[in-house]
Amino acid sequence: MSYPYQIKSFEEYKEVYERSVRQPQNFWADIASNFQWRRKWDTVLEWNFKDLDVKWFKGAKLNITENCIDRHLEKLGNKPAIIWEPNNPDEHYRILTYNDLYNKVTQFANVLKNNGVKKGDRICLYMGMIPELAIAVLACARVGAIHSVIFGGFSARSIADRLQNANAEFVITCDGAFRGGKDIPLKSLIDDALESCPFVKRVIVCTRTRTPISMIKGRDVWWEDEIKKVETLGMAPAVAEEMDAEDPLFILYTSGSTGKPKGVVHTCAGYMIYTTYSFVNAFNYKQGDVYFCTADIGWITGHSYVVYGPLSAGATTLMFEGVPTYPDAGRFWDIVDKHRVNIIYTAPTAIRSLMSFGDEPLQGKDLSTLKVLGSVGEPINEEAWHWFHEKIGKGKCPLVDTWWQTETGGFMISNLANATPERTSWATLPLPGIQPALVDENGNEIEGAGSGNLCIKFPWPSMIRTTYGDHERCKQTYFSTYPNKYFTGDGALRDEDGNYKITGRVDDVLNVSGHRIGTAEVENAINMHAGVVESAVVGYPHDIKGQGIYAYVIYNGNHNAGDEDLIRKDITATVTRIIGPISKPDKIQFVSGLPKTRSGKIMRRILRKIAENETENLGDTSTLLDPKVVEEIKEGKL
Ligand code: WTA
Repeated sequence: MSYPYQIKSFEEYKEVYERSVRQPQNFWADIASNFQWRRKWDTVLEWNFKDLDVKWFKGAKLNITENCIDRHLEKLGNKPAIIWEPNNPDEHYRILTYNDLYNKVTQFANVLKNNGVKKGDRICLYMGMIPELAIAVLACARVGAIHSVIFGGFSARSIADRLQNANAEFVITCDGAFRGGKDIPLKSLIDDALESCPFVKRVIVCTRTRTPISMIKGRDVWWEDEIKKVETLGMAPAVAEEMDAEDPLFILYTSGSTGKPKGVVHTCAGYMIYTTYSFVNAFNYKQGDVYFCTADIGWITGHSYVVYGPLSAGATTLMFEGVPTYPDAGRFWDIVDKHRVNIIYTAPTAIRSLMSFGDEPLQGKDLSTLKVLGSVGEPINEEAWHWFHEKIGKGKCPLVDTWWQTETGGFMISNLANATPERTSWATLPLPGIQPALVDENGNEIEGAGSGNLCIKFPWPSMIRTTYGDHERCKQTYFSTYPNKYFTGDGALRDEDGNYKITGRVDDVLNVSGHRIGTAEVENAINMHAGVVESAVVGYPHDIKGQGIYAYVIYNGNHNAGDEDLIRKDITATVTRIIGPISKPDKIQFVSGLPKTRSGKIMRRILRKIAENETENLGDTSTLLDPKVVEEIKEGKL
């Protein structure tokens, strides 16, 4: 496959960008003409941010799997689509060519049909990073079902919340998942979740860990048995369902500053075009390159840049089941060496963690195949940037710092490898088609250099269309803070050349090891503990995780002096049960009160400063109901 839209120089970028703003419809229509359509669009774009009504490629018909698989078969059929590296390096890796992927996806799509799945049904996927997860995702898309992948670090309760919100009648899971030294009991967590989800009709269980599990009669079936049935029936490979450009492709839940996680909805055509376009351009992907994105498919990075973007581009995408430090901190570099990886895309938290082991894990690893490095998930600090650039890229590989979000579907601001300049810790320039704006505290747009809240003022193809089941919430959350703009929740700086440096969230969302965590959600979970009266959660700088979770807790349960550590463990266990292990607080400080205004609002600014050790400069505390608690909290700081 060649990519006529691949940008080759800074000059070309400037021209292309300028055209994308001047003639967005023609610009995107040209790119879209490189894809496979059952029917072309009537209009490229209709939009209205006020009511949040955005339609890209209206009237077009397609199936994303025909673009990710079928259209490649003639030229790339025998080329690797997915290279899978298992958790345990002694187990054999697997390679699925595009032909293999076609066979497996069309076969599993038949399994879904045999189990009664129809276009528009919601299917929840709770699996480890094995090829069957990618196969299941694509099989859902093949039959037009809406997948909702849930990361393996979420609890039964979080799964149940998501299943209920999506009203998902089908679940695909595994017996368990290997992650480093752990074996996560996925099916058992699903069983717990389903106690409050009687509407789930069918659970398909794929074998991976051989952990003993219970199979419920009439509800649970084995993946492998279902495949055999399809084979026995001699069913022809499933023909792709014809989808409207704006039919939902998937739901992915993500945390915000209030309430329960929102189901971000992405649609078929715009998402496909934008993930492909941004993948090819940011990484300067060349046919035959081996591309390794270390993200889990449970997050947006895995959706857009392990599965859909790369496969639609006919790329070879490497899926890794394990974690960066298992069996040792050289694992990523072993994988690069073993599979001759050309592009590696990972997160600053992983880089910082691996940096802390020094150079020893790099010894004897051949990294000479690497051409491009990428970073995502949080602002990359200078030390991590330099380490990645020098030690891994040997100073010769461009490092792309890709800023984007679950809601944006694809990269928004990033340098483009071998085309636009990189700059340490700066995401730099917007991709073509992306029109950022900085807004000051009065909602006025800032011109030229400055700093402010980062918004996007024109639609792009892979933008969020709605939050599942609650369109109003989507409008409120993203499109009401500033009229006619999408508000990202991030702050940013801009220089006189239009380069952006993302400074982090300006709302009550934490970024812990690149995972988005809502403080309100963690507080609600802590408050479920019987002895807890009230709590407040803030972030604090953490060397490896970027941000750690600091909880201030008013505890009123029965306890003896010296029991604090036990109570902390109980509270942590509560959070793990309610949300999942990824949201565990790093520090819990017991307090007798929280700093509140006279109207009862917690002054988080003060708590944040104390957690950050900035106790000198707390600002005005005179509006507090009880300024004394601030002194007490300062003294008890952990
Ligand atoms: C943060 C992950 C700085 C940001 C793709 C954003 C980043 C949130 C970067 C979205 C980056 C992501 N530089 N910050 N390169 N990439 N972020 O939805 O705060 O899990 O709002 O999507 O991560 O997290 P999400």
